Amino acid sequence: MTRQARVPAVVHPRGVTILIRTEQDVAEAQRSARRLAQAVGFGEVAGYMVATAVCELASNLYFHAHGTRRILVDVLRRDNTMGIEVIAEDGGPGISDVRSALQDGFRTNGGLGGSLPGVQRLMDEFHIASRPGKGTRIVARKWNT
Ligand SMILES: Nc1ncnc2c1ncn2[C@@H]1O[C@H](COP(=O)(O)OP(=O)(O)O)[C@@H](O)[C@H]1O
Ligand SMILES: [Mg+2]
Repeated sequence: MTRQARVPAVVHPRGVTILIRTEQDVAEAQRSARRLAQAVGFGEVAGYMVATAVCELASNLYFHAHGTRRILVDVLRRDNTMGIEVIAEDGGPGISDVRSALQDGFRTNGGLGGSLPGVQRLMDEFHIASRPGKGTRIVARKWNT
């Protein structure tokens, strides 16, 4: 009988998907983002920024959206720079006035912080696509530069 060679324990950080159905899921998404940011080498502060952005996007899914609501957190690599990509998507109701929603102080329900303008400031890239009645998809990225 041949013995299997031991595979060295190199851990490649992998992306995660978190379905947002409860407040616990919001917290879980935040923790996952922080873990992943740490795993790819983000410092304390940058890691918290990513986690805070995820917390805000996940809270928005929880408070404002319905249908399948999920957060995807994934690892990016561009040349030698690592990054984190966050995608928040849901099945409705969509944001009818995206421009207003991206303005500071547009609205707040006293939720867990940040707001969409906050997320824009915390992350390097921010893209939003929303269709009334259909849903919203936000893609935000942060690079470890
Ligand atoms: N995923 C979403 N689906 C539908 N509407 C949303 C979503 N995310 C945000 N919104 C709308 O955009 C507004 C602004 O969001 P935000 O800046 O996070 O402020 P807050 O959540 O404190 O109201 C919300 O009040 C809500 O009307
Ligand atoms: Mg919000």
